[in-house]
Amino acid sequence: MSWFARLRLVSVLLTLALTACGGDGGHGTPGSSGLGDPYFPKAGNGGYDVTHYALDLAYDPGTRHLTGTATLTARATQDLSAFNLDLRGLTVDRVTVEGDRARWHRTGDELTVRPPRGLAARDTFRVTVRYSGTPVTITDPDGSEEGWIPTVDGALALGEPIGSMTWFPGNHHPSDKASYAITVTVPEGLRAVSNGELTSERTEKGRTTFAWRAAEPMASYVATLAVGDYDIRRSTAAGVPAYTAVVPEEAEASAKVLARLPQVMEWAAYNFGPYPFSSTGAIVDGQGVSGYALETQNRPVFPGAPDIALLVHEIAHQWFGNSVTPRSWQDMWLNEGFATYAEWLWEEDQGGDTAQETFEALYDSEDADLWAFPPAEPTGPGHISDRPVYDRGAMVVHQIRRAVGDDTFYDLVQGWTADHRHGTADTAGFTAYVEEHAPDVDFGRVWADWLYGEGKPDRP
Ligand code: TRP
Ligand code: ZN
Repeated sequence: MSWFARLRLVSVLLTLALTACGGDGGHGTPGSSGLGDPYFPKAGNGGYDVTHYALDLAYDPGTRHLTGTATLTARATQDLSAFNLDLRGLTVDRVTVEGDRARWHRTGDELTVRPPRGLAARDTFRVTVRYSGTPVTITDPDGSEEGWIPTVDGALALGEPIGSMTWFPGNHHPSDKASYAITVTVPEGLRAVSNGELTSERTEKGRTTFAWRAAEPMASYVATLAVGDYDIRRSTAAGVPAYTAVVPEEAEASAKVLARLPQVMEWAAYNFGPYPFSSTGAIVDGQGVSGYALETQNRPVFPGAPDIALLVHEIAHQWFGNSVTPRSWQDMWLNEGFATYAEWLWEEDQGGDTAQETFEALYDSEDADLWAFPPAEPTGPGHISDRPVYDRGAMVVHQIRRAVGDDTFYDLVQGWTADHRHGTADTAGFTAYVEEHAPDVDFGRVWADWLYGEGKPDRP
């Protein structure tokens, strides 16, 4: 072996030894760089659970420059020599763990943090990341845009499925929910609207700081931030404060439908169980800003004035998706099937088409897209928002209702949202729950043909 090869060997061995003991004589191993989600394997990270995000942000729409300090409170789930956060773009300026400077490096969307002392399983720790830069917009596998979306006078942050890593570092997978405190400073005259409740607003030296607090657990994909000029309305709905923010050009078109928010909230609470959050509302941004609505927690986002069905859909998501959150992106139909079925129920309860009529019209439609794949098995990450997840997912829910009857159906729905309130759930857990609570009914064909089966099932 040449002296050079020897030297390299020694250096490799040294690196290995340092890595194995956390670089400082500590213990533990690095947390994994992804949670192995079947559709987005690198989303989220192993080795810890976040309990709270404190985000302190400043944004200047003129320069599109964001500066941020993110302080995460987390609990180690293993002995950790290092752990990852998901972050796309931006420049990391400094990282501390428990107040001490930490070494870090970046590869792709992974920010790896090496705490100076290592962390023991079950330790609670705080990691602070200071960062800045121009956040990017992500184009998803299905062609839709998410992440940080600049608007005429501000920006809109949307995070389904992975866009939240464009504006703050975190454990960006739906299985790790946390509370949030989001504080945003913007030029005076603009507003910053986020999740939860506005706890303070103060203007100083030409800049206004808005402090928002979302106390109930939230998945990072439904975190949002809207910066711009909005008309603000405060009211109450189903016993909680409602805060709506509407771009002036959509104010007139939105007024009538948003006035029905209390009615929709009460209807949903009556059918799905107590509202899971401490405030509600809506953000109506300009038409075409995102091309789709999103059920951002407490306060769904709409690109232009929604119609009543879309408002019902996004409010229903507060139960299905935001309170009961999919454990992986494969469980997306638990969100969209129920939110779509809520539209059918609303229509039926308003004296329009019955859910059975909606079901039959869909079944008879010749649209091949509807039968492209079973709702519980989207064919890839570009298909998690496709029609089978929404419409065929709702068809699954409808067949459960038909099989058990209305009384048991509403007991089932309310029991499901109660059991998993502020938690996560998956498809296997759902089918087991239904079977357990309707033991006399055979759901074999519903699961085999409608939930998991390829092609168009036989007419039920
Ligand atoms: N999940 C959103 C809703 O149902 C819609 C949505 C988000 C979407 N991202 C998408 C639809 C991408 C199509 C493509 O309210
Ligand atoms: Zn939806």
